[in-house]
Amino acid sequence: MDHTENKVIEYYKHFHSHPELSFQEFETTKKIKEILTEHHIEVLNLPLATGLVAVVGKGDRSIALRADIDALPITEETDLPYKSQHQNIMHACGHDSHTSALLGTALLLKEQEDKLQGKVLLVFQPAEEAPGGAQKIIDTKVLDPIEAIFGIHSDSTSKVGTLTIRKGPTHASVERFKLVFKGVGCHAAHPNDGVDPIIAASQFVTAAQSIVSRNVHPQHACVVSITHLEAGSTWNVIPQSALLEGTIRTFDKDTRTIAKNRLVQIANGIAATFNLTVDFSWEIEVGNTFNDEQLASFAKTVALKDNFEVQEGQPSTGGEDFALYQEHKKGLFILFGTGKSAPAHNPKFTIDVNAIYPVSKYLANLAQDYFTTQEQA
Ligand code: NI
Repeated sequence: MDHTENKVIEYYKHFHSHPELSFQEFETTKKIKEILTEHHIEVLNLPLATGLVAVVGKGDRSIALRADIDALPITEETDLPYKSQHQNIMHACGHDSHTSALLGTALLLKEQEDKLQGKVLLVFQPAEEAPGGAQKIIDTKVLDPIEAIFGIHSDSTSKVGTLTIRKGPTHASVERFKLVFKGVGCHAAHPNDGVDPIIAASQFVTAAQSIVSRNVHPQHACVVSITHLEAGSTWNVIPQSALLEGTIRTFDKDTRTIAKNRLVQIANGIAATFNLTVDFSWEIEVGNTFNDEQLASFAKTVALKDNFEVQEGQPSTGGEDFALYQEHKKGLFILFGTGKSAPAHNPKFTIDVNAIYPVSKYLANLAQDYFTTQEQA
């Protein structure tokens, strides 16, 4: 094991045992900064409360490599010697492996800086899970001059040494919606004195399922899930209101628009039918990731040269705020196999540490080769 690999695994274990939630990654940011500074890598001075951007190389051309750094509100249930030391917080989505892999890349690129024919921005993004961290980075305008951005994510369904590189959509757009049907509360024995929001909510749950089955093109993927329903508190009172929450997942703009419009129409229609009002709001809206075709072929070539096994994989109905970068710039989101384990977001989720350093090397090679093989955009 080479010296840098040892360091990268050590960083990984540190981050794993010290996870922090979205927008609270203060110690994580401090540690990343410490490591970069110790290796004489420049950290840019940006108005970010958590997360940071560092730079290696020089010249007119630039690209960005992005890792996310936040953890989840989950209590870890593994027996790892480096398991989470923070109550009810866990790196259960592998962002600690992304962070340490990108630190490895930073160290490698710094060592080969004289060969590097452009600038590489190393983006340690906060709050992917929140989501919203990507927007914080975009708002600093630090990425305005870049030609392309590459993001990585661990994949617990593939073995170590595998990269998933797809063209087109890889992660779904994410909508989180919330609605409240407002009726009139009354005694359950005299329903005619009130307006029952539970009847409306029940009809809404059922009617919303017709969006996928009746409105969306049969060959276009779409998920509509109602996941939260709250109304009433006892058996003999018709409550005043009913709250519902849920999510829509799609892979293209048309399907997204159809699903969103129909959901609002159905909510309004049901409110009219049952003579009550509805407050509808979109709480989170992130588009789908979309991988640039040319970047995908380029990344695949580098991966094969690095002896990775490359697969196409399937798009995921999970979301990724990497999509926000791709609204502005050409981007590629790559998954790396971390060996079979419990799925991401599960308290028993683990990563094979041997998966991390090869990704550091790969991203360094990707950056080097980008400037020598890809035409300036
Ligand atoms: Ni994740």
